[in-house]
Parts: sequence; C-alpha cells; structure tokens
Amino acid sequence: MSTKKVAVLPGDGIGPEVMAEARKVLDKIEESTGVTFEYNQALVGGAAWDEYKEHLPESTLETCRNCDAILFGSVGGPVKEQNSEKWSGVEVNSLLGLRKAFELYANLRPAKLFPSLAFASSLREDISQKGFDLLVVRELTGGIYFGQPKGRDGEGASEKAFDTMVYSRKEVRRIAEMAFEVARKRNQKVTSIDKANVLTTMVFWRKVVEEVAAEYPDVEYEPMYVDNAAMQLTKNPQQFDVLLCGNMFGDILSDEAAALTGSLGLLPSASLAEGSFGMYEPSGGSAPDIAGTGKANPIAQILSAAMMLRYSFDMEDSAQKIEHSVNSVLEQGYRTADIYTDGDKKVTTQEMGDLIVEILDL
Ligand code: IPM
Ligand code: MG
Repeated sequence: MSTKKVAVLPGDGIGPEVMAEARKVLDKIEESTGVTFEYNQALVGGAAWDEYKEHLPESTLETCRNCDAILFGSVGGPVKEQNSEKWSGVEVNSLLGLRKAFELYANLRPAKLFPSLAFASSLREDISQKGFDLLVVRELTGGIYFGQPKGRDGEGASEKAFDTMVYSRKEVRRIAEMAFEVARKRNQKVTSIDKANVLTTMVFWRKVVEEVAAEYPDVEYEPMYVDNAAMQLTKNPQQFDVLLCGNMFGDILSDEAAALTGSLGLLPSASLAEGSFGMYEPSGGSAPDIAGTGKANPIAQILSAAMMLRYSFDMEDSAQKIEHSVNSVLEQGYRTADIYTDGDKKVTTQEMGDLIVEILDL
C-alpha cells in the first residue's frame, strides 16, 4: 500500500474552507484505492505573516520539501488593507517564492466553458453557447518575471527602471515539449503565443518551438502574435486547444480565458517541476469578502486535487472519477452562490463537497 505525502497550504480567505472540501474528496479516494494520503499542513500568505512575519517561512518550505506534492489554497487580504505590512506583496512573495524554490516551470491552466454555465460568460451569447475547452500552458520560472538584470537607478528625469526578458533554448524546449505532450492527450493542436514581430526573445522562442513542433507531426502547430490571440479569444475561442505561452503572456491570457468562462470558482491549475513534483491551486483568489459564509465554490480546489492525482501521483482513474462527479453535480443543477441563477439548486460550500463525495461513492 502506498503513501503519498501532501503539503497542504490552505492560506487565507476562503482557502481553508475550500481545502476542507478537497480533503473530504481525497479521503474518499483513499477508501476506494488503498492509497494513503499523509497531509502535512503549513502556513502561507497572511496566515503565515501572523505567526512568522513572513509570507513564505522556511518551515513551510521545509514541509513542502518533505512532500510529494503541494496542495495550495489561496493567499491575499481585503482590497482596502492591501497596502498594510501584512498584505503587501503577499501573492508575489508566496507564489513566486514557491515557483522558484521548486522550479515549477510548467503552469497548466485549463479554461473550460460548460454550455450549461454559458450565461456566466462575458462573451456574447452566440459565441458562448458553442462552449470551449482550452488549456493555457504557461512557462512559469523564466522570462521577464525572473530575468536579470532588473532594477532601478539614476535620479530625476534620468531615473529609470528595467526588467529583462530572456529565454534559453532549454527553457523554451521543455515548456514546448510539455505543451505538445498534453496536446497529444487532448485535441492535438498547439497555438504558440509570441511577439516575434518585435521582440528578439520571441523570435528565438518561435524558432525553438518550431523545432519542437517538427518532432510532433501528429499535433497541429500554429504560431500567433499575442495581441491577435487576445482578440481571437473573444471572437472565436473554439479554435484553440493548447495555448503555449511565455511567463508574462501566459499570465495575461490565462486571466482572459478564465473570465470568458465566467466561473473562476471552477478552474483548477497545476504548476509542475521536472519529474513528478507539482503544486496545485485554484485559479481564483482568496475572496476574503465571502470567507466563512458558505458561499465559496469548492470545485476549483477539488479539481486541483484531481490534477494532483493525475500529474504527481499517476492516479488517472481517480482523477477522472473526481472530474466525472463534479460534472454530474453540475448537470444535476446544484450551484454555489457564485454561479447560481433562478431555478438552480442552491448549495453551500460544504454541501457541494458532500454531493461530490456522494457521487464518487456510486
Ligand atoms: C498568477 C498571478 C501571479 C503571477 C502574481 C500574483 C505573482 O497573477 O498566478 O497569475 O503574475 O504569476
Ligand atoms: Mg495572473
């Protein structure tokens, strides 16, 4: 019987309550598979600040190092307190810190529009009704986020600030390979996003991606400028399967794609290292305004746990079972407050978790 060690980092706001529901689901999976999950809880974000005056304390990193995967909730505080010592820089410190510490170079962000939830989309109805199902594969540990040098110097009119966009062949190859590998298991199409008409880094990006594309003749490949991609997403999102992006373009387009689904509370994400280690987190934020009210949607956290089973624990069957349960509960019309409309069956965070566990049992 195998044991999987999970670092559980609930964080702030709705993090702890949606994490509790994901744990319920994992407990159920334990019963049916004989796999044991060993949960190692640690503090991150504002919750860690209260205890250590740091957003990502060494003790939390140590817990993560001793585990096989990280299940992350969310971090962040109320908008009006954002400049306080406790909350300022909390997301950057927590997330960029973890990404760098564990070399989580591949960020997978699915954005799927369920036809039954098309009303929640920001798209015009004739477009949203067709539904879409795409995956942003974002490079997460390189590019302009981490490139050196970055800084500020000078003063007065010549004071300046600078960041460096840089990608090595190794970095582009490994994220491109990831994109083509996952496309093989989806709809066999990769659209690589760049700005090769302007940026030298992106000319290189396109060249290396083309080399990788040639190794995957079974997968359709298309390069697209980022400005056009932002527009195409709103006009015809059905054309996309996998969107391969560098760090910054992936940040932007993954938020756009999420908004088009209209249901942030449903979207999971995975950040993967080489090998099987990964961090799994909902795409939405910590929503402190609704924390503790039972309104939070636990589905994104539950689907993040499913991604953990798929990518870190090689438990594809269990991952699919969870995804299937989530779909069934939605098809039966159960909704948390974020996606509720008249005529639906309204449920709390906990009830939603219970329903998903119940179906898992069948
Ligand atoms: C995200 C966030 C982060 C990013 C911030 C909070 C550092 O926007 O995960 O998309 O830019 O990567
Ligand atoms: Mg972002």
